[in-house]
Amino acid sequence: MPKSDKTKMIHFAWFGCAGAHAWNTQAGSLYDWRRGDLYMEVARIAERAFMDMVLVADKAAVPTAYGGNNDFYVRNGFDIHMDPTPILAMMGAVTKHIGLGATLSTSAYPPFLLARQIATLDQLSAGRTAWNVVTSVSNAVAQNYGQDTLPPHDERYDIADEYIDVVRKLWASWDRDALIQDRESNVFADPSKVKPINFSGKYYKSRGPLNVPATPQGQPVIVQAGTSNRGQEFSAANADMVIAHKNTLADMKSYVAQFRGALEKAGRDPASCKIFFAIKPVMGDTEQTAKEVWQRNYEKSSVEAGLSYLSDTLNIDLSKFDLDKPLPPDLPVTGMIGKLLQHTQSNKHMTLRDIARHEGMSETYPICGTPEQCADIIERTAKESGADGFHFRPAGPGGTVGDIYYLTEVASKLMPILQRRGLARTSYSGSTLKENLFAF
Ligand SMILES: Cc1cc2nc3c(=O)[nH]c(=O)nc-3n(C[C@H](O)[C@H](O)[C@H](O)COP(=O)(O)O)c2cc1C
Repeated sequence: MPKSDKTKMIHFAWFGCAGAHAWNTQAGSLYDWRRGDLYMEVARIAERAFMDMVLVADKAAVPTAYGGNNDFYVRNGFDIHMDPTPILAMMGAVTKHIGLGATLSTSAYPPFLLARQIATLDQLSAGRTAWNVVTSVSNAVAQNYGQDTLPPHDERYDIADEYIDVVRKLWASWDRDALIQDRESNVFADPSKVKPINFSGKYYKSRGPLNVPATPQGQPVIVQAGTSNRGQEFSAANADMVIAHKNTLADMKSYVAQFRGALEKAGRDPASCKIFFAIKPVMGDTEQTAKEVWQRNYEKSSVEAGLSYLSDTLNIDLSKFDLDKPLPPDLPVTGMIGKLLQHTQSNKHMTLRDIARHEGMSETYPICGTPEQCADIIERTAKESGADGFHFRPAGPGGTVGDIYYLTEVASKLMPILQRRGLARTSYSGSTLKENLFAF
């Protein structure tokens, strides 16, 4: 179907951790999740499907939240992650267009180190880099970096506001025309265009300048996923793209309205930040087969896996909670408030067991059917919710970026239908990630 004026194109991304969980998916029988060839192949497939980016998640700790120690996570390989940055560098080396998003926590890296890593990745990839700004959700991370607990939820965002200010200033510490590299005059760069930032704030001090020149994007793409009120305020001030988990269309719509309002309040054009929701379409050649696949996923999923993921994400040990009761909406969450909202906002009757199953299956908004039916739902959902894009959430819990079988299914069965309908891109028009993200 040709693209009509009314057809709004949709952005797509592939999201997950470079995690041990892949050992126990089908990919584990072909690839070793610790080796680069898996991730390079993932990047190639996602690029052939013309996705905007691959986003690699991260948590800088083996969690302890569920049961108060590492045992469950270690035994099952849950939330055992490798560092996203070198993995993305390998992905960038075998691709030319697809964006490369690194999740790096403001609670785990000094700002100078992070600014330099992201700037380096933006240089290496010729402008395809994004930073997914997270503040970390669990005390296990804090304990790896010399603290007993994370700072309180809203204060983490206050710290992150200052943090991102430092990072942005470091990225701007070389004027774009500072680099001369003129062999004739033997001048590398113009010192009058490379300046210290001399930042001194409440939480950070940094002299600068960065020791990486201005990158192709100047300011690499900022991704954020906070859906609490404070999280939205932070995203509205800072993000080019937000990613959210919502279980229903009504929740997506209300988030889109609230977040576009937050952008306006922050003095920005409400279209200046792309909104993505997580999806995990379950497909089959017929509607019946798709339902059977869903049922098999359901039966294979483990409540405990979901509980362990949720415990870490909420920063609360859920092993002590009644599985047959809903989670109280006023649960004192110090981790990710958006995760509690996801499960308590519309459907107040989901028990903890239902929620844990849902997470154990990496489900968010339910999509199940033939590839054509899934494309129908995606098209309708984008139109009705006002979303700009979707990111796929592969096998969980939390999703592993190395779920190459699911990626292949999405890339070979679903994306071509969306492309034929004029809903997904069939080429990369821009040369940088930012240009592609804002091409439509
Ligand atoms: C789609 C999505 C992906 C996320 N990925 C990560 C991640 O990789 N690492 C992490 O520490 N937090 C991750 N988070 C948590 C958020 O970045 C954020 O810290 C958390 O949502 C707290 O925000 P809130 O309380 O404002 O909702 C993710 C959240 C969402 C919705």
